[in-house]
Amino acid sequence: MPYSAQILEHYNNPRNVGSLSQTDPNVGTGLVGAPECGDVMKLQIKVNPATGVIEDAKFKTFGCGSAIASSSLATEWLKGKTVDQALSIRNTEIVEELALPPVKVHCSVLAEDAIKAAIKNFQEKQTNVEASELVAAK
Ligand code: FES
Repeated sequence: MPYSAQILEHYNNPRNVGSLSQTDPNVGTGLVGAPECGDVMKLQIKVNPATGVIEDAKFKTFGCGSAIASSSLATEWLKGKTVDQALSIRNTEIVEELALPPVKVHCSVLAEDAIKAAIKNFQEKQTNVEASELVAAK
């Protein structure tokens, strides 16, 4: 299958590969799998709690080249965005940017799902922090 130059570029030079500390309350982790192929993607964000801006993003993807390129692109897009802005990232934008072929659309869905899962995890952690602060203040 011919891959676009954009896919190959991210595949050959993936941005932001790695991990952030899961014990950091400002880090949200999304771990998702694609039932179609069994590929797995871990995507993490580190949010500045005062501004709500995503200051860092990392990924590790065990999957196809399109999934690696999708998650690499996603981490680039996430940095500097607010959590609310990040929630509006759509897999169709990834498809367009990378020129993914139709059989690889689910790879971009994996990236959107990973973003949402990471944000959800971050928000749950924040809620827990607030709850424990309330208890501590009593
Ligand atoms: Fe399944 Fe790409 S082939 S994520």
